Amino acid sequence: MQVLSVASEIFPLVKTGGLADVAGALPIALKGKSVAMRSLVPGYPAVMEALKQAKTVADYPALFGGKASVLAAEAAGLDLLVLDALHLFDRPGSPYGDAAGRDWPDSWRRFAALSRVGGDIAGGAVAGYHPDVVHAHDWQAAMTLAYMRYGRAPATPSVMTVHNLAFQGQFGAGIFGELGLPAEAMTLDGVEYYGGVGYLKAGLQAAWALTTVSPTYAQEIRTPEFGMGLDGLVNLRAGDLHGIVNGIDTDIWNPATDKHLAAPYSAKTLKARARNRAAVEERFGLDRDNSPLLCIVSRLTWQKGMDILAAVADGIVAAGARLAVLGSGDAGLEGALLAAAARHRGRIGVVIGYDEALSHLLQGGSDAILIPSRFEPCGLTQLYGLRYGCVPVVARTGGLADTVIDANEAAVEASAATGFQFAPNSGEALLHAVHRMVELHQNPVIWASIQRQGMKADLSWDRSAEKYAGLYRSLLSRKAV
Ligand code: ADP
Ligand code: GLC
Repeated sequence: MQVLSVASEIFPLVKTGGLADVAGALPIALKGKSVAMRSLVPGYPAVMEALKQAKTVADYPALFGGKASVLAAEAAGLDLLVLDALHLFDRPGSPYGDAAGRDWPDSWRRFAALSRVGGDIAGGAVAGYHPDVVHAHDWQAAMTLAYMRYGRAPATPSVMTVHNLAFQGQFGAGIFGELGLPAEAMTLDGVEYYGGVGYLKAGLQAAWALTTVSPTYAQEIRTPEFGMGLDGLVNLRAGDLHGIVNGIDTDIWNPATDKHLAAPYSAKTLKARARNRAAVEERFGLDRDNSPLLCIVSRLTWQKGMDILAAVADGIVAAGARLAVLGSGDAGLEGALLAAAARHRGRIGVVIGYDEALSHLLQGGSDAILIPSRFEPCGLTQLYGLRYGCVPVVARTGGLADTVIDANEAAVEASAATGFQFAPNSGEALLHAVHRMVELHQNPVIWASIQRQGMKADLSWDRSAEKYAGLYRSLLSRKAV
């Protein structure tokens, strides 16, 4: 079976968050399931640089204001189709904005172009390639399904995966004329959304099946609290909604072979983590002692609960823990965390920035990873934490609720616990969980059992890839009816 995936990021070529990890890992995991996945991605500079021996497979004399072509290439074991369009993607900065963090003002056009080309490929624009199923990720790719529906591929089954309902790609009605869609698309059951154009909304409407990246998030987005204004539509489509939890790439995230660690280790050699811990302490300017070391690896945003964390930073220190924070994001939150570090030298260390290597070291050297998200469609850092014996302390929401087993008395007794959950997501509940963590950390036998239990969990893509493959197959058989 041939599946075309459309996404705005793909690891290891371009990544701003978990979407890239998923878009990069799923095609590889599907290889063993008789699914050949090709990935259409934008030709950002980092992607273009990674291409060797690219072949032009489609040409656009004029695509949203400039020349463009589609290149077929292999890179990092991925079968890629790259949208090479200098006027849209050849810029420094991130996929979504400039180096100063300002969103590109023409992203509506950039991702409409990506989607337009996705729709064309679904309709046969690349000679010899006829995908059986098209799988779009998040709002940047969602319009692919609208272009299919109103264009050349209405009968091709499609899947819309929501990685984060908070990002919807909502634009003014003024852009509609430039999208090249028929007038009938600008209706309530098409791309129209609150008088403007909604990209994710259009995808949710057009997709044959919808998925979220965890079962709990699939339920949550049916409620006004988590539905971000789209819960009505999500409920209408509830029969086609599936929650499939993300896996992780267990080769890239393997503490036994991880080159970013000072000392690799396994569940049998947990003591070797001490060297990684020492490296973390040095890098973050923390005291060298035996108190529990908590880390954060995160975008510093409201979604991630970083304001809640900043407000209880003093309480975390008072509980006897140390904290190492790696992240970047909202300037106000960066400032609040840096201020906390300045108040508690040696107890809190903060590195502002994005650093893949350091994120591995933190997982390999910290005792626990704290994830106080207000909502979390899946979350990957708790999965990396489980794999690395870096015990997750998480808010009970979305994928965090689905993947971490709380160390309550019964679970500890049964040696089933893998971490700590807290709810509601308040500073008080967070601190209570930190106190529980600190207490159990004092018992080395129980602590090692929690670590090992997490390290044993099956976090690989295998099971989830099987679910996606099953979903594709079921859509194909629906098509045949
Ligand atoms: P989200 O995609 O919402 O940011 P996820 O937990 O799904 O959350 O994925 C975040 C990914 O980005 C993980 O791979 C995590 O390790 C990585 N990450 C987040 N912040 C940083 C950072 N400052 N430096 C390095 N990696 C980071
Ligand atoms: C989004 C979500 C995160 C999820 C990731 C990959 O960025 O915020 O929870 O893990 O997508 O699916």
